Amino acid sequence: MNILITGATGFIGTELCGLLSRQNHDLVVKTRHPERIKGAIRGISSLAQLNPAETFDVVINLAGEPIADKRWSIAQQQRITDSRLNTTQEIIDYFATSESKPALFISGSAIGYYGVGSTAESIDEQGTADNSFSSQLCSAWEACALQAEPMGIRTCLLRTGIVLGKNGGALSKMILPFKLGLGGKIGTGTQWMPWIHLHDMVALIAHCIADESLTGPINATAPQPVTNADFTKALGHALHRPTLLTMPAMMIELLMGQMGEELLLSGKRVLPVKIEQAGFQFRYQRLDEALADIL
Ligand SMILES: NC(=O)c1ccc[n+]([C@@H]2O[C@H](COP(=O)([O-])OP(=O)(O)OC[C@H]3O[C@@H](n4cnc5c(N)ncnc54)[C@H](OP(=O)(O)O)[C@@H]3O)[C@@H](O)[C@H]2O)c1
Repeated sequence: MNILITGATGFIGTELCGLLSRQNHDLVVKTRHPERIKGAIRGISSLAQLNPAETFDVVINLAGEPIADKRWSIAQQQRITDSRLNTTQEIIDYFATSESKPALFISGSAIGYYGVGSTAESIDEQGTADNSFSSQLCSAWEACALQAEPMGIRTCLLRTGIVLGKNGGALSKMILPFKLGLGGKIGTGTQWMPWIHLHDMVALIAHCIADESLTGPINATAPQPVTNADFTKALGHALHRPTLLTMPAMMIELLMGQMGEELLLSGKRVLPVKIEQAGFQFRYQRLDEALADIL
């Protein structure tokens, strides 16, 4: 297949390109740095550079300013939002003018769609949004992507959890304090941390390509989410380090503001109901197995 990808140079995108290349797909990557793209993959900096006769079977959209790298000032919130909405709208405009449209558009989103709080009940793809920044961001990102549907393009929205892998992502930020023996639960530790192994994340995207019945929001999270307290224990165990300390919620609020409140102190029990119903088999169902593989 011919596949166009944005965000292909990122943590998930790099692994995804590896998988899709091994499956012999032809890849074109939209990136801010096309000169860095090597080998059989072609890099472009704008969709306007595409040959009008060129057609794609699948378009995958993962680009966006990192969510957790900087404190959420008003300007940073705008950068996070614009980077996603502008890229997605560019794709939609490209679809609108293309004579031959792709069969499938897979676009990013996150479990942040389900908003803040740490309710104990499970949430499937019917869960609702709220007024938090993460939720409003994901809602706007999804709404933008869904403009592809009336054009007859099957559209999948990846409501991704915390992706765990070797080089990058959330785990690379957590490991140092844990290795120093300073790891500990955050606040009450009762907030949920729906996670997914990077291997399963890209396999799930490949499953969306293969299964033509899949459409709409899809929770990309492992079937056994854990609370922050359990995550802390599992990571400490995997690294053979104590996890006796607790980071008080007040400290997180002070150091990280709204970003800390939404990303670290909140978390709902999100379950991958739709993808499991579609027969997807997770290789890593249990956090301890995922961490043992990665670490
Ligand atoms: N990793 C996770 O745990 C996780 C969880 C939930 C949701 N997600 C979402 O899934 C997507 C992929 O995640 P990831 O972890 O692979 O992200 P990532 O490593 O941060 O990569 C995202 C890519 O987006 C592009 N990008 C970065 N800043 C940009 C900006 N200001 N404007 C336009 N493009 C920009 C970059 O591509 P170029 O430099 O090539 O342009 C980068 O490679 C993201 O949108 C993220 O929000 C990730």
